Parts: sequence; C-alpha cells; structure tokens
Amino acid sequence: MAMDKNEIVLKVNRVYNPPRAIVDGSYIKPEEYERLYAESIKDPESFWAKIAEEELHWFRRWDRVRAGDHPYYRWFVNGKLNITYNCLDRHVKAGKRNKLAYIYINEENHEVKVTYGELLDMVNRFANGLKSLGIQRGDRVAIYMPLIVEQIVAMLACARIGALHSVVFGGFSAPALRLRIMDAQAKVVITSTWTKRRGKKIDLKSSVDEAVADLPFLEKVVVVQREGDDYELVEKEVDFHGLVKSQSSVCEPEVMDSEDPLFILYTSGTTGKPKGVLHTVGGYNVYTHYTTKIVFDLHENDIFWSTADPGWITGHSYLVYGPLSVGVTSVIAEGAPDYPDPGWWWSIIERYKVNVFYTAPTVVRLFMRYGEEWPRKYDLSSLRILGCVGEPLNPEAWIWFYEQIGKKNCALIDTWWQTETGGHMITTIPSYAAKPGKAGKPFFGIVADVVDKTGQPVAPNTVGSLVIKQPWPSGLRTCWNEPERYEKYWKTIAPYYLAGDLATKDEDGYIMFLGRADDVLNVSGHRIGTAEVESALVSHPAVAEAAVIGKPHPLKGESIKGFLILKHGQEPSELLIEDLKLHVRRELGSLAVPDELQVLDSLPKTRSGKIMRRVLKSHELGMEVGDISTLED
Ligand code: WTA
Repeated sequence: MAMDKNEIVLKVNRVYNPPRAIVDGSYIKPEEYERLYAESIKDPESFWAKIAEEELHWFRRWDRVRAGDHPYYRWFVNGKLNITYNCLDRHVKAGKRNKLAYIYINEENHEVKVTYGELLDMVNRFANGLKSLGIQRGDRVAIYMPLIVEQIVAMLACARIGALHSVVFGGFSAPALRLRIMDAQAKVVITSTWTKRRGKKIDLKSSVDEAVADLPFLEKVVVVQREGDDYELVEKEVDFHGLVKSQSSVCEPEVMDSEDPLFILYTSGTTGKPKGVLHTVGGYNVYTHYTTKIVFDLHENDIFWSTADPGWITGHSYLVYGPLSVGVTSVIAEGAPDYPDPGWWWSIIERYKVNVFYTAPTVVRLFMRYGEEWPRKYDLSSLRILGCVGEPLNPEAWIWFYEQIGKKNCALIDTWWQTETGGHMITTIPSYAAKPGKAGKPFFGIVADVVDKTGQPVAPNTVGSLVIKQPWPSGLRTCWNEPERYEKYWKTIAPYYLAGDLATKDEDGYIMFLGRADDVLNVSGHRIGTAEVESALVSHPAVAEAAVIGKPHPLKGESIKGFLILKHGQEPSELLIEDLKLHVRRELGSLAVPDELQVLDSLPKTRSGKIMRRVLKSHELGMEVGDISTLED
C-alpha cells in the first residue's frame, strides 16, 4: 500500500528508537555512546590499542599504535600478524572447527555449507597451490569470479602467503579486467568458467581469455570448473580443484608486518582510469573486525547475511574479512535478488533464520516495487538488525524497509563509507536512535565534519563537503603506483581527508548524504567514473567527443546519460545508438551502459577546453545552471 505524502512526512521527521530488547542485548548501550565516542577521539591510540589487544592475535605486538608524517600514517608499527590467522586458525584453535563459516545458496537451490575447519583446510591447500605456481609474498593475483566459496578461498589464500589480491567484479568486461591486470602486473588470474544470473549462464572464462591475451608477465590462469563442466585446459591454465586436491592442508601463515599490503581494489575517481586503492594488513584487520562486531552488533550465534559481492569493498570488509575475523556464520547467495521470484531473498532469511541483514538501497527500492505481499509470505521474525550501504537510503525506502521487513521490531542502520575508508565511517549503531534518510554519526575514533571549500564547518542543515579530520586505522595507504592521486584526497581541503560526498549535519550531529560532489556516478550502488564511460564512448569509431552525467533514477539511484558529438560524415540513428550501448558494454561491462544517449552539435566547455558536465546536467534536469562565467560559448 502506498503511503500518502503527509503520512510520510510525519514518519520521516520522527526519531526511531530501537526496540528495548535490541538495546538490552547490545554491546554498547546508548547511554555509553557519547562517553565512549569522546574517549575514542580524545585518545585514539589507546582506544585502538585496546581493541587490537583484546580482539586479535598478533605474532608480535606493535611498538607504537600510530606513526608517520601526514598524510602517510602507519598503524600498529612493527606489529606482526596474518589476517587469515585471525579469520580462521584463531577460531579453530578456540574449538570452533565445526562452526559454519558460510552457507552458500544459489538460484537452483543448491546449498553448500562450509565450517571454519573446512575453510582453513581449503585455504591452506590453495595457498600451497599458489606457492607451487611460483606466487610469492608481494606478488599480485587477480580474481575474477562469481560469489562462490572458491572466490573467498582464493582471496584468503593470497592473504595467507602475503600475495596481494586484486578482485575484479564479475560484471566488468574483458577490457576493464585487462586494464586492472596490467596495472597491477598480476602474475596469476583466478576465475571460474561461468556464473548464473536469472537463469542465464554468463561466461566468465572467455572474458579472461580475451583479457590475458599476449600478456608476457601473466604466468597462469587458475580455473574453477563448475558443476557439469568438462572443460579442456590449455597452456598456462590450471584446474582449481585439482590444485587444491594435490596440496598439503598445512600452510603456516606468512608473518606479515602491520603495514604490509593486503590487497588492491580498483575504484573509480573523478578523472582518468580507475585507481588501485591499497589497504594494509594490521589497521584493516582491526577496523573491519571492530566495525563488524559493533555496527552489526554480532554475537556468537548470529546468522549474518551481507548481500554484497566481493568484487566491491563491501564484500571484502563485510562478507569476507570482518565476519570471519569476528567468527560468525554468514549466508552468501549467488544470483539476483528477485529470481526465481521476488520472494527468493525473503525465503532465504526464513530458511536460515538470518538475524542481521545488510544490503543496498537499490535492492530495497526494487522490493518496494514488488510490494508487501512477497515478504509477507515468509517468516522474517529472526531479523534483529537491518543495514544498508552504497548510496543514500531515501526516507521512503527507509520506512518501507523498517516497517515491511523489520516489522518495526528491528534496528535499521545506514552505513556510509567508501572503498578508500576500508570500513564504516558514518552510521548510527543499532542501540542508538536513528533518523530516516540520515546515515547518522561518526563511528568511534572517526572525526568527521561538513565543511565549506576553505574547511570551515557549515551551519547546521547546510550543504557542504564531508571531510574526515583525523586518520583512522583502515584508511587507504596509497593508490597503486600513483601516490599523487592518494595525496589529492588530503590536499584539496588540507589537511583533511576529502571524501567527495555532499552532506549536511543537523543540530543533533546526524549527517545526511546527498550524493557525490564530483564526477563519480553511483548506479545501483556501483561506483563508475564519468571519465571511464566517456573514454569507452569515444573509443567507438563514430564518436568524436562525449560527456556523461548521472540523472536521478527511482530504482537505480542514478542512471547514465551520455551526450555525443559524432565524427564528420556520421549520422545519428537508432542503430548507431544501440551499437554505442553495446560498445560500452563490451568496453566496460553492463553496469556502465548509458540508459540514454543524445547527439549534440557541441558540448559546453570552459575556455580552457574542459567539458562542463554541470551545465549539461542542470539543463537536463531543468535546474538553474549556476555560474557559467567560465563557459566558452
Ligand atoms: C556512496 C561503498 C550515501 C558515497 C562502501 C561514497 C553512500 C561512495 C553510502 C563509495 C550511504 C556509500 N549513504 N552514500 N550509506 N554508502 N555511499 O567506494 O557516494 O563503492 O562516496 O564504497 O558510495 O562507494 P564505494
């Protein structure tokens, strides 16, 4: 049933206090929150040291919690650890060998259960396998796979031996994968033959073949053959399961320094090619562990379901490393949310009695469209905490999620963070009062503010830029091979970290996000650079110039619109537009295909020749164009 406008306004302007039972059972009580937060920012070193000490295993304790010159910070200096030891061995040694780590389910209802003991065994075998292929500490390994247990094994095996994984989302096309493999000079690519989405087989292996053709530094392609496959391996190719079987299940974890790199994850920036965000072992382990435990308030017997894909940072931090480090049981599902029917995900929650459910606003809006009758068919009473990430959770979707899925009985948290931040930055914790449409407050140890261009805080409820004023343990350490891009985060509104998001802060300190301030698009929670789509468009022989903008979209958050100038002699036609869309799909992947393409005679540019996307966007949305004094024509 649709709510009328007045009803929504009433509901939005309320503060939602979590149910008493949730508060009572939570690690941190609301009345402790202010004091703990104040302590955490007054003395972050003691705060994080206590957590690192109490929660994790170190082969050697750190000498100093934080060191380094701005903006190059180091955390847990000279501490030695291995994140996989904290994720696996630690639990097995504590008697949790038979506890489930993952329950995998796919569209065909095929279920796989993996215990912590079994996962450790597989990781060790595959880690030995990687070693046998010549992979050593510091080498890069690209992973291009669907969400299957083997993908998680591949990531952890890299971390076990100190190799850096670079996971590339399976929705990216061959050229996008190739770019990432080349940038990181990966020696090995791990893939699987195919994935299935909405009943359709999607071939991954052929994309890898195209991506790795004639790359001299690439030594091996490891292939997971899926059910029913009888694929004949050719030169350079190695069978994943064969490799696992042939190896010993004992593999001592490599003793890593806190500041040794853990992984590279490519993400889109304002300009140019994607940047390789680099995270290191110690700070990332501490921060993702603690946020997983506290923000999701996870306890020993909880069943956690994060619907993310490990191709993105949410999958890294809150499907792999965080939940394993905390030692919970996670559900993972390959495939689409609404296939075989729009009740599919709700049936999974009922079947596995999921307690904590973490998803994306675009999915909530998708389910809103299907209507309440679908969730109503299932028993969702196991749910205690609902969470969202990826883009602003609009108030209508907030209320729907809270009422129809949470039955007004759950805490709802909206977590704001980024690939670069490694973990949650702005969110209310479950025991704390939430406000629809607002992500909430900075997490412990995080000093955040909304400021103007000069770094001065703006007045309450005024739009400004979100900045982080103090370093935190899991911040990116650099951009792979491009330190200048790393430094830019800290130089634009120096000395703060500039996130690139527009935000407001209300009188109570709750932060609301309004989208990106720059040319980064957010389509269904997927981060895409305008520059990447534009360069894909101009690589088509018919296109001379292109400019891309994001348009508000009721389901996807944003949709992509491209404006084009064709080359001399090219005529616009429907056929050409379709061909251009296909071309973007081939160059980047389906996630980056523009919904609309429009041919123009000229593009608005500054006198120095920069395209003014802002002018195109304002015009498209029928808004004031604003300051156009630098416009050329
Ligand atoms: C956006 C995803 C509003 C934001 C973890 C950010 C959000 C970008 C939220 C990072 C949220 C993420 N509310 N916006 N709760 N969470 N974003 O690197 O624009 O894929 O800068 O990391 O997503 O996207 P990324």
